[in-house]
Amino acid sequence: MKAIRAHGPGDPGVLVLDEIPVPEPGPGDVLIRVRAACLNPPDWYARRDFAMIPDHLFAGERLRVSFPWIPGSDASGVVAAVGPGVTDFSVGDEVFGLIRFPEVNNGGRAYAEYTTAPAAHLARKPPSVDHVHAAAVPMAGLTAYQFLVDRIRLPAGRTVLVNGAAGGVGHFAVQLARLRGARVIAVASSRHEGFLRDLGADEYVDYTATAAEDAVRDADVVIDTVGGPDAHRFLKTVKDGGTIGPVFPGDYHPEEAARRGIEIRGGQVHSDGGQMAELAALLADGSLRAGIDSVYDLADAAKAHERAETGHIQGKIVLSVP
Ligand SMILES: NC(=O)c1ccc[n+]([C@@H]2O[C@H](COP(=O)([O-])OP(=O)(O)OC[C@H]3O[C@@H](n4cnc5c(N)ncnc54)[C@H](OP(=O)(O)O)[C@@H]3O)[C@@H](O)[C@H]2O)c1
Repeated sequence: MKAIRAHGPGDPGVLVLDEIPVPEPGPGDVLIRVRAACLNPPDWYARRDFAMIPDHLFAGERLRVSFPWIPGSDASGVVAAVGPGVTDFSVGDEVFGLIRFPEVNNGGRAYAEYTTAPAAHLARKPPSVDHVHAAAVPMAGLTAYQFLVDRIRLPAGRTVLVNGAAGGVGHFAVQLARLRGARVIAVASSRHEGFLRDLGADEYVDYTATAAEDAVRDADVVIDTVGGPDAHRFLKTVKDGGTIGPVFPGDYHPEEAARRGIEIRGGQVHSDGGQMAELAALLADGSLRAGIDSVYDLADAAKAHERAETGHIQGKIVLSVP
């Protein structure tokens, strides 16, 4: 089969199309004929062997990538074979999911014509959603879901500010917060206003014209996909007793946050087929939509990574696998 591999760390150009054997599904796994795979930030972090991630962001030892390495944790495709013990899926089923995340060296390997995945990480793709739009959902959609539902347990009727609202995680967080009855304030650059209002954002802060901390005072919850050393400015946007969900780590001045009763609830997204099925139901009835920034052929994975590195992503970048 054809697969994109990096034989060592570096710029997007390290991603090359190789011919390698089709993998075998192990116990509990299915073999997927991949029809679309999606880019996520860990793909380009790992491609550079995490060189840009500071030591303190690793809980224990630094992650190291074993090259040659096939990127890709998000896949949508068709079941081509099932391994021992798989009863939930059969050959021919259309499936999608976040595969073996957060593993790196034994991760999803979705930039390929075939990949294996634990059946427990997959859900059936809704027939009304094509593979490109389905592949766009798993990591970003599960991240938004796991922050809003598992960690923050967002009650109805709250005000939610989403920073980085146009990106992969952000645009799903806007929609999932709205579905839970929230008033949503989207923070993004000017080019994304139409996109985010169409997805249901009630208010829009163009951070290139107005700093969010100058415009917002009353959020119950901040979902911050940007983070970084000046992330504490978002404390001004949250009510006392509110919650900040740092999707990317940041400095939220923990002492000031504690004094004001503001909880910081972060964490790492993980594969979950049951939650994928919940997202599938929302996609099927049209209440959740994947925004597509751009689509590249599998062979052009390096170009897709170049697009990712220019930033200002609106939705997701997807690889179509012919
Ligand atoms: N905790 C977890 O498990 C988890 C899971 C997934 C992702 N992440 C992390 O979360 C971050 C976001 O992931 P993603 O997939 O959503 O990335 P993404 O698709 O690249 O989106 C990032 C978005 O942020 C916007 N942005 C950039 N600078 C900004 C600023 N200063 N203020 C407001 N918006 C800004 C960009 O567009 P504009 O600048 O044009 O508005 C872009 O739309 C990444 O760092 C990723 O590693 C963590």
